[in-house]
Amino acid sequence: MHDIIRQLDEKRARAALGGGEQRIAAQHAKGKLTARERLEVLLDEGSFEEWDMFVEHRCTDFGMDREAVPGDGVVTGFGMINGRPVFVFSQDFTVFGGSLSEAHAEKICKVMDHAMKAGVPVIGLNDSGGARIQEGVASLGGYAEVFQRNVLASGVIPQISVIMGPCAGGAVYSPAMTDFIFMVKDSSYMFVTGPEVVKTVTHEEVTAEELGGALTHTTRSGVADLAFETDVEALLMVRRFFNYLPLNNREKAPRRQTTDTADRLEMSLDTLVPDNPNKPYDIKELIVKVVDDCEFFELQPDNAKNIIIGLARMQGAPVGIVANQPLVLAGCLDIRSAIKAGRFVRFCDAFNIPILTFVDVPGFMPGTAQEYGGIIKHGAKLLYAYAECTVPKITVITRKAYGGAYDVMSSKHLRGDVNFAWPSAEIAVMGPKGAVAIIFREEKNDPAKLAAREEEYRRTFANPFIAGRRGYIDDVILPHETRKRICRSLAMLRGKRLENPWRKHGNIPL
Ligand code: HXC
Repeated sequence: MHDIIRQLDEKRARAALGGGEQRIAAQHAKGKLTARERLEVLLDEGSFEEWDMFVEHRCTDFGMDREAVPGDGVVTGFGMINGRPVFVFSQDFTVFGGSLSEAHAEKICKVMDHAMKAGVPVIGLNDSGGARIQEGVASLGGYAEVFQRNVLASGVIPQISVIMGPCAGGAVYSPAMTDFIFMVKDSSYMFVTGPEVVKTVTHEEVTAEELGGALTHTTRSGVADLAFETDVEALLMVRRFFNYLPLNNREKAPRRQTTDTADRLEMSLDTLVPDNPNKPYDIKELIVKVVDDCEFFELQPDNAKNIIIGLARMQGAPVGIVANQPLVLAGCLDIRSAIKAGRFVRFCDAFNIPILTFVDVPGFMPGTAQEYGGIIKHGAKLLYAYAECTVPKITVITRKAYGGAYDVMSSKHLRGDVNFAWPSAEIAVMGPKGAVAIIFREEKNDPAKLAAREEEYRRTFANPFIAGRRGYIDDVILPHETRKRICRSLAMLRGKRLENPWRKHGNIPL
């Protein structure tokens, strides 16, 4: 018995060493933690249950039969985050560059299958050179097995990807199908083909950082949600983020005790909206002052800044927040903002998280760039997402709600449950200037007359009462009581039930 235990200890020690001390030192020298060290930061102390530590690859080509490492480049299992269960996989770059073999893929698939059965989220820590080149098509098959599971798990259990090293080729498509992607600055990259291939095919000279670094994906491409300075910071933020999520689509998100009272008034909101309708203000101030304890977990803060998305809590229960940002492009909806918010609305809907929408939108962005880029199709994504959504939806129009954008932003007509407007709201088919230019075209050479018409239009239509008269707005509320009114409405909606007609699936414009 002693011998067997000694053998077991040796095997565990061998697996824990991954690709060996030298490669571990190289990993540390790059400022990166090892796969196991990362799990120690991510999970509650002592909670990790590792599986498949002894799995080895089955490849015999290129002398690979002499190079098997127990665990085969990925550490898998389950553990706890703040006492709630989670399945994890953590790729080990010290073993064949974290590349994905058939056996490596099987380990990931095993935790995903269990996560689906148990109704528990999956967090993947990605650090991989892509398909294991020595294995050829077997590793491609392995990737496809993972992809298939990502898709079947989508909307059933939350899936989070943390990118903590190079992720090339197949290694980017599994994260792309998960709900959220977090990256680490200066050490993580995502690209379908690396700089060398790019140079050969398109003759572009580009660094890995420019092509697929954390800044690229959080600012330009919108592929990643957040970027952090270090491995530790990224993992600690995942722990915080995890607290907002339900374990699966049949559960509600976890509530947290708060001392922030539901009827807290915020007098400073009464002066948030400037008298001049063309003057911007920061909608984040409203968000932060309304939610519990001023805590707002913003996602994609540097992508499509004209719309803000993120999670917060109201009376302890998580809510998803979508808000037009008048500080950027006057809060117009465009292609990128519609895609950003549309996917977030669908996430919240899939996981029973009520949605709070703050509206100050002058309309859709005009221009050839938007039209040629397909604003019709992409703008429709957000419209589709709100219209399909069945979780509680509360809308507050702070100022402008014009045209199609009024309809899109969780209007009453898209089954908004409670729709409020501030007294400063302007709800109309278009802004006074545009409206007057069309209706009174024949007066276009008489600026004084046009100005008077504009003022008349503003007085008559640019207010919340026309919509209020039709019941499109449930009430005109004072800014300082916004939190109180939202909290009451959310409490009223706690038992909301609404089902869409049966169908295999809808056909969202892609
Ligand atoms: C096998 C790999 C590997 C891979 C890296 N290694 N990638 N082994 N298969 N895909 C090994 C290296 O040989 C090396 O082994 C160790 O991992 C570390 O790699 P380095 O190159 O020394 O590290 P670094 O300089 O940091 O560069 C990392 C890298 C680079 C950018 C990831 O290794 C790289 O470009 N790898 C190939 C990427 C790629 O083309 N993958 C296939 C994509 S195709 P030693 O023994 O020296 O430590 C694909 C298809 C799937 O994924 C498509 C599905 C849709």
